[in-house]
Amino acid sequence: MFERIPEQIRRLAIVFVIVIGGTVVLRYFVLPPSLFETRLHRESTIQREVAKQVKFAGTTVCGGCHEDTATVKRKGFHKNLSCESCHGPAAMHTEDPMTVKPFAPRKRKFCPLCHEYDPSRPTGFPQINVTIHNPLKPCITCHNPHHPEPPTVPRECSACHAGIARTKAVSHHALIACTTCHRASRKHKVSPRRVKPTKPDTREFCGKCHREGSKRKDAPKIDLSTHGERYLCWECHYPHMPGVA
Ligand code: HEC
Ligand code: HEC
Ligand code: HEC
Ligand code: HEC
Ligand code: HEC
Ligand code: HEC
Ligand code: HEC
Ligand code: HEC
Repeated sequence: MFERIPEQIRRLAIVFVIVIGGTVVLRYFVLPPSLFETRLHRESTIQREVAKQVKFAGTTVCGGCHEDTATVKRKGFHKNLSCESCHGPAAMHTEDPMTVKPFAPRKRKFCPLCHEYDPSRPTGFPQINVTIHNPLKPCITCHNPHHPEPPTVPRECSACHAGIARTKAVSHHALIACTTCHRASRKHKVSPRRVKPTKPDTREFCGKCHREGSKRKDAPKIDLSTHGERYLCWECHYPHMPGVA
């Protein structure tokens, strides 16, 4: 009956028998049993990981000794940054503070790692153009790294809204101050993202100068009830460059 199996199947069977047999012999009679002990593998991995030095101390320990810095930082824009994201791993320092001093990133090139203009950053994240933002001086000459609020309050809206200011300067509204249309408190200049100025929200607002019979003589007049009908004026006229649409 062995004879009736085709030649090639018989040869294949011999190869299988040799491979399987060889594996069984190696596994149970040749190689040391400890090689297949998963427990041993795990133990040595754990030992290896445990032997590694802990480099980061974590976010809370620093405040224990640097209470002032931690308190200042808690109130500023950097409240959500861990100390070690700027000072680097500092576990050694917490164990022996006098001999091991953490690095302090005083150079100008450090802060742009987060603040250099990059379109992929979230909208509203404070970004600067490093080439034109107060060049050459280290950032910390003007910004306290632990409380980085801009040091001086700019007087002009154009300090931050340069594009809009430049556009308006050559428009028909050149002589209308920003604050005629936006009520902006001083706080907007300190925390622009938290305190927002008002924006006009009705047709009547523009009508103050532009409706028939307005006291403002130099403004061209329109019939407020029919002109542009139910649409807001700035759906057709860009208010900072109100050329004829
Ligand atoms: C056990 C107390 C202790 C802890 C915890 C501690 N520090 Fe300090 N730190 C000190 C002392 C003491 C000095 C030295 C002050 C001096 O030189 O006048 C110091 C100095 C520093 C300096 C100044 C280095 C320089 O160049 O002047 C930095 C930065 C600093 N620590 C950051 C940290 C950070 C970040 C942490 C948290 C990971 C931390 N420290 C945790 C005690 C501590
Ligand atoms: C945004 C980065 C940044 C963060 C976050 C930060 N630091 Fe600093 N830190 C600096 C820089 C830059 C200096 C150097 C300031 C200087 O020389 O005027 C500094 C200086 C220090 C000093 C030296 C003394 C001083 O005030 O000049 C200590 C101490 C210190 N930092 C502790 C901390 C602790 C504690 C935290 C967390 C609560 C922290 N820092 C978070 C950037 C940072
Ligand atoms: C790890 C990233 C990171 C680093 C490094 C960093 N910052 Fe910041 N910075 C932030 C975040 C996050 C905010 C808060 C943004 C917000 O409130 O929307 C912020 C806010 C600020 C603001 C406030 C801007 C405003 O809206 O008025 C200034 C100024 C600033 N950082 C300066 C610095 C300076 C100077 C350094 C270097 C010492 C620095 N940052 C390093 C992440 C960083
Ligand atoms: C000569 C002082 C000075 C230096 C140096 C300086 N800044 Fe400023 N920074 C200011 C002033 C003033 C403002 C607020 C007005 C403005 O935006 O120009 C400001 C605003 C900012 C803002 C907020 C921008 C926004 O859109 O809300 C960030 C972020 C900032 N600076 C980061 C930096 C970084 C990073 C560096 C270093 C590369 C740096 N600054 C160097 C004075 C300075
Ligand atoms: C220190 C920089 C700075 C100064 C100075 C500044 N702004 Fe702003 N302003 C901003 C930033 C940043 C935003 C964007 C906030 C956002 O996108 O969340 C903004 C937003 C606005 C908005 C839009 C608000 C909204 O709801 O969309 C108006 C209007 C505005 N500013 C008007 C002004 C006027 C008027 C002045 C001058 C009196 C002025 N700003 C001065 C930084 C500034
Ligand atoms: C004639 C009235 C008028 C004047 C003057 C004016 N704005 Fe506006 N501004 C508006 C109106 C209306 C909007 C709302 C537009 C919208 O919602 O699409 C607006 C929107 C804005 C916005 C929100 C972003 C945008 O472009 O829509 C900013 C920022 C702003 N103005 C800043 C300024 C600054 C800075 C000045 C002075 C240089 C200024 N505006 C002068 C009427 C004015
Ligand atoms: C404080 C008064 C005042 C307010 C408020 C005002 N304007 Fe004007 N506007 C003027 C004056 C003055 C002129 C003409 C200036 C000139 O002759 O160059 C003008 C011109 C215009 C023009 C004509 C442009 C052209 O090509 O002739 C348009 C359109 C316009 N404004 C739209 C608006 C809109 C939209 C608003 C509301 C967001 C608005 N204005 C709010 C005073 C105002
Ligand atoms: C549907 C679009 C639309 C809307 C909304 C709209 N306008 Fe106009 N506006 C135009 C067009 C188009 C012109 C030029 C043709 C014309 O004179 O009718 C114009 C012209 C003007 C002029 C110049 C008139 C002149 O004699 O030079 C003023 C001023 C003006 N609009 C103000 C406003 C004001 C204020 C509002 C809001 C109450 C407003 N517009 C709403 C489309 C619009």
